[in-house]
Amino acid sequence: MSIAVYGGCFNPPHLGHRAAAGSARETLKPEKLLVLPDREPPHKAQAKGEPTPEERLELCRLTFQGLEGVEVSDLSLRRPGPSYMSDTLRLLQEQYPGQELILILGADMLPGIERWHEAEEVLHRCSLAILTRDGVGERELEPQARLLRQKYGTRVRFLPNPPVAVSSARLRCLLPHRQGWELLDGEVYARIVQHRWYETQVSLPWLRSRVETMLKRSRIAHVKGCEKAAARLAEVWGEDPETAMEAAIMHDMTKRWGPEEQIEYCRSQGIPLGEAEERSPQVLHAITGAAEAKRLFGASDEVCSAIRWHTTGKPEMSLLEQIVYLADVTEETRDFPGVEDLRRESLRNIEKAMAMAARSCVEELERKQTYIHPDTIRAYRWYAGDENKEESTC
Ligand SMILES: [Fe+2]
Ligand SMILES: [Fe+2]
Repeated sequence: MSIAVYGGCFNPPHLGHRAAAGSARETLKPEKLLVLPDREPPHKAQAKGEPTPEERLELCRLTFQGLEGVEVSDLSLRRPGPSYMSDTLRLLQEQYPGQELILILGADMLPGIERWHEAEEVLHRCSLAILTRDGVGERELEPQARLLRQKYGTRVRFLPNPPVAVSSARLRCLLPHRQGWELLDGEVYARIVQHRWYETQVSLPWLRSRVETMLKRSRIAHVKGCEKAAARLAEVWGEDPETAMEAAIMHDMTKRWGPEEQIEYCRSQGIPLGEAEERSPQVLHAITGAAEAKRLFGASDEVCSAIRWHTTGKPEMSLLEQIVYLADVTEETRDFPGVEDLRRESLRNIEKAMAMAARSCVEELERKQTYIHPDTIRAYRWYAGDENKEESTC
């Protein structure tokens, strides 16, 4: 019987790793295939903004879950210092006496294997199964394999191409460009986004599909319209359209919660609420939405702030805050008297459009004789220049 050993950084683990483990298991038929994430890859320093080794272990558990006969082990992680394969193999031989240890390696690892720490010992203790890939197949690797067979007596065999061609290094390049999510297990991607490891910028189609499950069906068209309007305004005013779309997608994500749920959430998260917030429950979803955007999707401070101020506005708003505020009121499904003028103005003079929007909001609340949140009044005063407006009209 044999134990297959699949070690590596798995930084991050991806569907290529999962496919490789599945195909190795089918070809080698070991008693068990052990996935062993390294604590500290001997030749690589841990980069800033990457998961810790323990977090990587958890990502591996998620990636390989449900694969029969495959087990993610913390054997390498439990040992302090660099993860040398020679140490790992020694431990495994103690744990599985008499079993053949088969080390699964990417084709790119084969040429450098003789330079590994205690390489001779490694090559005596295990046999090798090399994962071939496009452009680096059995024919290219056979001379190197022959050399190892002759020099160390190591058994070397080849595994077919894993069906998902991707590398962790490639993924680390894709993630900051809102790409690569389809090459990762869904839960792994969600975890990466939540912590924004690898400087990840969230994929907008992925985010859209996640947020849509949180919305009332009747709100989806409004959010889509808001996203479109935010992208257009960002293009016109020199903001990043994808950042504006990200904020717009999430801006109403807690809108379906009732007032009690909103208040309870704020209490549980330690978010202080004043009397004004309790008197204007329509404002609460902006506060809880910003907090959830950070908690669930690791949104940046600027995106959270645009969500936070999309309902009341405030004086001196950032460009992104103004864009999301205006997109919310001018998006294509909005239909109130004057919306056409406001749409036009938002593309011509953003400050003037803010003044028009703030005025129309205050007038509407006055007409309904509803309590007006002091931030709404402050935004109105700042943008419409009306110093005489009282803090609260009801
Ligand atoms: Fe809203
Ligand atoms: Fe909205």
